[in-house]
Amino acid sequence: MSTVYDKLMNCYKSVRERTDFVPEVAVVLGSGLGDYGNQIRVEAELPYSDIEGFPVSTVPGHAGKFIFGYVNETPVVCMQGRVHYYEGYDISDVVLPTRLMKLMGAKILFLTNASGGINPGFQAGDFMMITDHISLFAPNPLIGSNIEELGTRFPDMSHVYDEELQTIIEAVAKEHDIALRKGIYAQLTGPSFESPAEIRLLHQLGADAVGMSTVVEAIAANHMGMKICGISCVCNLAAGMSPTPLTHEEVQEAARVAAPKFKRLLTEAVTRFHGRA
Ligand code: HPA
Repeated sequence: MSTVYDKLMNCYKSVRERTDFVPEVAVVLGSGLGDYGNQIRVEAELPYSDIEGFPVSTVPGHAGKFIFGYVNETPVVCMQGRVHYYEGYDISDVVLPTRLMKLMGAKILFLTNASGGINPGFQAGDFMMITDHISLFAPNPLIGSNIEELGTRFPDMSHVYDEELQTIIEAVAKEHDIALRKGIYAQLTGPSFESPAEIRLLHQLGADAVGMSTVVEAIAANHMGMKICGISCVCNLAAGMSPTPLTHEEVQEAARVAAPKFKRLLTEAVTRFHGRA
């Protein structure tokens, strides 16, 4: 058995000593959505630091815990705070929480994040439903001996973002009058923002938005056969597309402003995901 798998199973054991909650949908809360817990009928909370061996995030605004509860009738587990590769963790640790939520029972993964907009038609504050991704600039979390218990050695990546979930999200956005873009999200490692030349390159490669998370989680979840969807909040124009330098504070502030709409979209979509897994 691999050490990665051993560690995952130890974390799972540790979770099960604290709660027997079985979620249907796993939600990863990106920047600005940290207080989404107060929209949930909470059944249990589990700080990451209480889970033996669990990678604990060091980023301000990413204090970490799992929240278990219900969004209307849908049982969910929410990650309040994710782990980023740029914090120095092994890539297998970055995707450990995703894998753990699948082991808990979640069949659907809802990824959210903050990003920089590359598509010239995008503005700060836009929401982009992720239709596909570019993972070439981040390490693949499946490198190493394959964990057969989780999935196959060479997973297909043709349909990572589930069509049916995308249709539901689009319908929800329309009904709630929330403008929703669609596009391709590229993950880079960070922590430095991109250079203007890198953004021009990403644009030529077909990326619409760029960030420092999400794709590796989608790869690990796809490996385990989860249904995946993702929404990115475009919090700034990417480097070289606006005259002002980028700051983490600007990203956080834009995410905070967009949060009420983002939460509405999330709540209504997750409600409708019930029974779709
Ligand atoms: N680049 C990378 N990650 C980001 C950005 C960006 O411009 N904005 C928010 N997260």
